[in-house]
Amino acid sequence: MKRQKIKALLEAGRPQDDVLVKGWVRTRRGSKKVAFIELNDGSTLDNLQLVVDGEAACFAQVEKLSTGAAMAARGRLVPSQGRGQTLELQVAEVVVYGGADEKYPLQKKGHSLEFLREIAHLRPRTNTFGAVFRLRHALAYGIHKFFHERGFYYVHTPIITTSDCEGAGQMFQVTTLPLASGAPPDFAADFFGKPAYLTVSGQLEGELFALALGEIYTFGPTFRAENSNTPRHLAEFWMIEPEMAFYDLDDNMDLAEDFLKSIILHCMSECPRDLAFLNDRYQKDLLDTLKNVTESRFARITYSEAIEILGKSGETFEFPTHWGADLQTEHERYLTEKHFRRPVIVYNYPKAIKAFYMRQNDDGRTVAAMDVLFPRIGEMIGGSQREERLEVLSSRIRELGLPEASYQWYLDTRRFGTAPHSGFGLGFERTLQFITGMGNIRDVIPFPRTPGSAEF
Ligand code: 4AD
Ligand code: MG
Repeated sequence: MKRQKIKALLEAGRPQDDVLVKGWVRTRRGSKKVAFIELNDGSTLDNLQLVVDGEAACFAQVEKLSTGAAMAARGRLVPSQGRGQTLELQVAEVVVYGGADEKYPLQKKGHSLEFLREIAHLRPRTNTFGAVFRLRHALAYGIHKFFHERGFYYVHTPIITTSDCEGAGQMFQVTTLPLASGAPPDFAADFFGKPAYLTVSGQLEGELFALALGEIYTFGPTFRAENSNTPRHLAEFWMIEPEMAFYDLDDNMDLAEDFLKSIILHCMSECPRDLAFLNDRYQKDLLDTLKNVTESRFARITYSEAIEILGKSGETFEFPTHWGADLQTEHERYLTEKHFRRPVIVYNYPKAIKAFYMRQNDDGRTVAAMDVLFPRIGEMIGGSQREERLEVLSSRIRELGLPEASYQWYLDTRRFGTAPHSGFGLGFERTLQFITGMGNIRDVIPFPRTPGSAEF
């Protein structure tokens, strides 16, 4: 007989004569006459209550079960006598796969998120992380669905690369050279015959495909060796990078806004139970905030307007603002949480603080960049219209002292059939942080990698 998932049984809500479920014991209680087990199989936040009569043949086995044990139970699914659930399973047979003794660390509730990060096997079995990781799946699926329905193609860009997309030098080097020998590394003798790195972004490769397939997106892991120990930075994170031929900056902003609203709505409709739990447990206005974002029109202001608003705000910021300085998280949060009270798209940033590939505006000092800022998170998306003019782009590369030779394959797109195009990168974990209300980005990725920490 095939096992049935608790989610499907509870959603169907019907009594059934013969049901087989398999999962992990959350709690067991009872007396010599009857035992109650709360069983969770990971398909949903809700447990199924198992009821085992003291007369049943399997009662002796059940009495020994404790929190954490893995088991199967077969019996009749009937309307529940007790309160708190609609259905319960009257158990006839059980199989115990693996017990768990009193050393199982999840005996009492309320472990801190930090503590759980250190106990790899336990974390996904908690209500909180079950909810977070079901939402992580829903978000990933919602993203693919959004693009697929609009005719975008999913492109797999390389994880190992030899060019620095952001030009910011925050890359992890990949090498097979014997570093311990102490000899100066000879990269010509390295695996790829030259220095290679883990990618910080798939954008440059993505542009080549957009300029052939029209509208594409990437969705993969990206790596940044920046020493940022903050609740919003990871050394390994996932990024979604759509890239579109024949889009200007306005088209890019329209897509970003539609995209964010659509994927949030998708999570709300796929995981209402998990979101309600996170709302109650961690952030009382989570559901309202999500709804507000999907219903509001994002504010759109230029960088210069942002600087003006921040200057007049009367706030004391740790980093003072002036034209030319990059916006810090505190500024982004002021704009989204206090001034506009909704997401804000800031565009036309000073060219000196943005990457080489962004399209230069006619004013000579700004580029057609856009960042989408969210309440609580700050920057969720970074993107731009791309510089499609060969001359302008190559002189910018030279001006910044970037290794021009290693960008020739990229510059070829501007030599042959160049066209206006745009794109952006969405931080997957920052988006999930916003949707789940988790305060720390480490709590929305299964195995976080941060400076000084790469456990499991
Ligand atoms: O703004 P970024 O650096 O943009 C790019 O990499 C462009 N190539 C994207 C493009 O236009 N195709 O990064 C994009 C997003 C950020 O807005 C942020 O959400 C996320 O990636 N991000 C991080 N998330 C977690 N940890 C980090 N260290 C991150 N760095 C960037
Ligand atoms: Mg950015």
